[in-house]
Amino acid sequence: MTEGFELLDRDRIAAGCGGGLGRNVLVYRETASTNDLATQLAEHGEAEGMVVFAERQTAGRGQFGRKWVSADGAGLWFSLLLRPRWPTTEWKRITSLVAVSVSQALEAETGLAMRIKPPNDLYIGIRKVVGVLTEARTGRAPFAVVGIGVNVNQLQEDFPLELQASATSLRIEKGVWIEREAVAVAILRELNARYSPDALPDGAVDEAFRALSQRPICGNFAA
Ligand code: BTN
Repeated sequence: MTEGFELLDRDRIAAGCGGGLGRNVLVYRETASTNDLATQLAEHGEAEGMVVFAERQTAGRGQFGRKWVSADGAGLWFSLLLRPRWPTTEWKRITSLVAVSVSQALEAETGLAMRIKPPNDLYIGIRKVVGVLTEARTGRAPFAVVGIGVNVNQLQEDFPLELQASATSLRIEKGVWIEREAVAVAILRELNARYSPDALPDGAVDEAFRALSQRPICGNFAA
């Protein structure tokens, strides 16, 4: 994995996304799970827009309590703190907004065609490249933490044996080393273009979600 490895820089990422989500960026060298860290900070009153990255997670989680393998510096492991002023019945739309935004950002950065496997996985061909885990707390000061895991610079042999047939990375698909910070900034910018705490996502998000979910499984390059 080592090729052009560089630690993520919080100031460069925050400057790149120009406010909104990512106005406050934290980068940890290691944590158990960025979703847990973001949840703790949210419970202590942290404002919407904070994004927590970790170079390595020791207990990265996926849906249904599955383990999310988060090797040191190989991908983007991060969580967003959202406090939408939407009716809570609409919060389920957060995951589709995120899936569409991440797909569009990755396609623009790499030229690789993404396919959404509802509700929250992104695939390239038959292999998973991104997972999204949204966890919400209701009550007096409700919030949602959206965890995003993007496999960026792993080679196939960097994945545990049991994942080698089902997981991929942007580097494997593209055949070149990928600059993680540029990908992180592109994702946050796409999210900022679609997300507002004061307005529900528009119909274009639902339409894009449908189109990206119905993509055929073959074909690696975006049209
Ligand atoms: C899934 O595929 O089931 C969702 C995977 C979500 C992984 C990300 S990595 C950053 C954040 N922290 C976690 O512990 N999980 C999410």
